[in-house]
Amino acid sequence: MPPFAVNKQKTTIPEEETRHASFAERLDALEDIPTNPDIRETFGDIVERRLSRRAALRRILGIGALGMLGNTPLPAAIRASDSNNPATSGFRFEEIQHGVDRTHHVSPGYSADILIRWGDPVVDGAPEFDPYRQSVAAQLQQFGYNNDFIGNIPLPYGSKNAEHGLLCINHEYTDAEMMFPESAYRTKPGRKAIVDIEMACNGGSVVEIRKTDGQWHQVGGSRYARRISAYHSPMRLSGPAAGHRRMKTSADPEGRRVIGTLNNCAGGITPWGTYLMAEENFNKYFLGRLTGHPEQRNYSRYGVAGGGFAWGRYHQRFDINREPNEANRFGWIVEVDALDPASTPVKRTALGRFKHEGAACIVNRDGRLVLYSGDDQQFEFLYKFVSRDEVNLDDRAANSDLLDHGTLYVARFADDGQLHWLPLVHGQVGLDESNGFHDQGDVMIEARRATSLLGATPMDRPEGVEPNPLSGKVYVMLTNNHGRSRNNIDAANPRADNQWGQVLELTHPDDDHAATNGHWELLLKAGDPAQPEIAAEWNAQTSANGWFACPDNCAIDPDGRLWICTDQGSNWKRASGTADGLWAVQTDGPGRGTGRMFFRVPVGAEMTGPCFTPDGK
Ligand code: FEO
Ligand code: CA
Ligand code: CA
Repeated sequence: MPPFAVNKQKTTIPEEETRHASFAERLDALEDIPTNPDIRETFGDIVERRLSRRAALRRILGIGALGMLGNTPLPAAIRASDSNNPATSGFRFEEIQHGVDRTHHVSPGYSADILIRWGDPVVDGAPEFDPYRQSVAAQLQQFGYNNDFIGNIPLPYGSKNAEHGLLCINHEYTDAEMMFPESAYRTKPGRKAIVDIEMACNGGSVVEIRKTDGQWHQVGGSRYARRISAYHSPMRLSGPAAGHRRMKTSADPEGRRVIGTLNNCAGGITPWGTYLMAEENFNKYFLGRLTGHPEQRNYSRYGVAGGGFAWGRYHQRFDINREPNEANRFGWIVEVDALDPASTPVKRTALGRFKHEGAACIVNRDGRLVLYSGDDQQFEFLYKFVSRDEVNLDDRAANSDLLDHGTLYVARFADDGQLHWLPLVHGQVGLDESNGFHDQGDVMIEARRATSLLGATPMDRPEGVEPNPLSGKVYVMLTNNHGRSRNNIDAANPRADNQWGQVLELTHPDDDHAATNGHWELLLKAGDPAQPEIAAEWNAQTSANGWFACPDNCAIDPDGRLWICTDQGSNWKRASGTADGLWAVQTDGPGRGTGRMFFRVPVGAEMTGPCFTPDGK
């Protein structure tokens, strides 16, 4: 039986149930509210000096790309007239145009197809999709939506096969008002059914895909096919916070097991072929508010208060007044062995607890793993994890606890272009009893508070981060920050009321990603360069379609080129006035800082991915 009756008549959703509605729009709102109480007016005067110096240099040289003026030598001759020429830019596709409509657009000569949609079968035997009769059992076998990560693991493992692989895709959150008929909200069993299906629809999917006759399709009956959800997937906790007293609940007195993952945003694929799911806005799934409780400060820092979803009304563990430690068990990176569908996903607490966006991995020159991850909220931070042990590419199993041992660092962006990585280690620099950190588990559970004590730089919402394995550079997407004022701008976050975002480029000495020092530069300041009042910074040759707003996720293609997709959310009219999409961005030579538009999504959609097969297609 369906959990609710079909009724296409217009009904009014009861006021108390509006918590179900319009999460997508309110997501922007919740990201608008900083929970970092420690936004100091750090660099004010120094920054003003640096900006003035750079602006003066820019005027003298008469070029638009401020990023060129950082710590690398200027090109001898700036042949800007060549920089956006398809023949010389390194990008040969024909650019498409900005616009606002209800379909997608791709550069001429390329095709865009739908591979899999919400409700399509993931697991063999999944029932046919019927949105009017959706059930938990069906959703647990079907594809979810609001996909905010795409990873590819070529098959067989270890190959560079560009025509067969596993697609690993996150299902970030649900929009109940679009997902269910309004009649579903009428009864209490109906509302509980909505919550349960929402939980089943959070998480991710592993889908085997193959290209035949130039067309990608899903492989039916795949032994790898898997749905991972907030409803039904048992997970193990590992690392410094596993078994910690603050992780124990009535369902899990040992603090080592948890059901589910939720709000999974951009993630990553490890060099040993596992899928990293990043838990982002976990706070909004919990109801209740703690007063006078030891976790009160912690939950206030992460915005765990009052919910956004009704899950806690029907599932005790999502009500912090009834299960006060449950919210400590979310906000982690989850490692899934996509090649072993029977494996138990593991929440890796050595990577810190925050609103993770991205888990980009690179094998460092010394053989260790370096993993970059952003904390996507206004005035939060950029992190990297450096493993203690070396990656073993010959033996997958040898890496099974690699993410449990290592050091988590947070970035400080100094006004002079220096980059400092500060370690989050218990007992060091105030991360001790005097500040309520009794062990490394405490430091990881409250990574944000630890980071603020270290004096890291509060950023304009760090989203995707990607190291370029060919050049050694690292690209950081800072999407926007409406909350920044003139009083707390700094050189890396240089605009007040920042609606448009910016892209940073990081360089470490000898391309050593484990280094604790380096340099940073602005690659570009997003937004329309034709509006001087917003102070966007692009290569002067960027075309009328080559600029974008709100860089979100990014990828480096096999030729080492940077691709950036955007997510303006409901603020698109103010940020750019045009739909989101995918741009190629030059990072080298005279064209550095030039964008070129490749793909555009329907207005209101978020462009996610991107992801390349090993042949760059
Ligand atoms: Fe899921 Fe920060 O976007
Ligand atoms: Ca994002
Ligand atoms: Ca995204």
